[in-house]
Amino acid sequence: MNPVATLACLLPKAELHLHIEGTLEPELAFRLAQRHGVTLPWPDVEALRAAYNFSDLQSFLDLYYAGANVLRTEADFYDLTRAYLEHAHADNLRHVEIFFDPQTHTERGVAFEDVLGGIRRALLEAEREWGISFRVIMSFLRHLSEADALATLDEARPYLHRIDGIGLDSSEMGHPPSKFARVFAECRELGLPVVAHAGEEGPPEYIEEALDILRVKRIDHGVRALESDALMTRLANEQIPLTVCPLSNVKLKVYDDMTAHGLRKMLARDIKVTINSDDPAYFGGYVNDNFIACIDALDLTADEVIKLARNSIEASWLDNARRDALLAEIDKVVVEWQSAGQ
Ligand code: ADE
Ligand code: ZN
Repeated sequence: MNPVATLACLLPKAELHLHIEGTLEPELAFRLAQRHGVTLPWPDVEALRAAYNFSDLQSFLDLYYAGANVLRTEADFYDLTRAYLEHAHADNLRHVEIFFDPQTHTERGVAFEDVLGGIRRALLEAEREWGISFRVIMSFLRHLSEADALATLDEARPYLHRIDGIGLDSSEMGHPPSKFARVFAECRELGLPVVAHAGEEGPPEYIEEALDILRVKRIDHGVRALESDALMTRLANEQIPLTVCPLSNVKLKVYDDMTAHGLRKMLARDIKVTINSDDPAYFGGYVNDNFIACIDALDLTADEVIKLARNSIEASWLDNARRDALLAEIDKVVVEWQSAGQ
């Protein structure tokens, strides 16, 4: 393997942009379908995997919501999250901040408690077993109304001590961040940090709205900022983290191929970018796969890869003590890698 790719795989890292529903591998989807006596619209695992041919975000979301239909019980959410955390552990992730979309499940009659309970049971277990710390981010679906998001916030009230932040995802075009100004203000008043998907398919103005109206702590994706020099300067000056998802961007045709990806240009402008997997079961890989694809296509240097790993820790919501401990772990791995002759 390219020595820079080896370093990327070895480095302790955090993942900050991961939809737990997007970790549903076809094998598990069929196992859960069997568990519940549900028939999926594909005959087998191969046919489902072959359907992962997307033309844009919406074509992916249609399949993603159809797949989520097999997630019904606390045990299903536990199994799903446990399977993701096995990948996280193998990739040397030391901290994860994961989204869940309650509306995708409560609309189908699944109890909020079962969704959050199953996810958290697996996270707590991985924290004990592997020392992976975590945060849980409840995300609103932007293709639904703000009234729907407000009702979801009400439903979440008994569980807010187990929710660490708020996000905004799903179909971006035609659903600007400003549509959710009131519900985000209410979340902020509750003391919850907020993030939003913006500038994945939507224009740079959506990123500005997320910053100025929703007052987000991070931008999820944000790659269309590259179209506005003024916005690039602002992101760099204010050190606003972007949770970039390179394999997702190529799979959803935001870029024609990985060589066209803007990640390296953002690094060169001193923007606090991080590498994440978004929906790894659908987009061809987990965090290390994303690093390797970028290193191969963009010829990232060791310094750039180290910066990306450090950014992932610095952009997280960890307390200072653990943040410093993980940054020190990165330094240690770099020294070991260098002394091994790289
Ligand atoms: N939900 C899951 N993945 C998403 C993405 N990449 N963009 C918007 N919503 C999503
Ligand atoms: Zn996403």
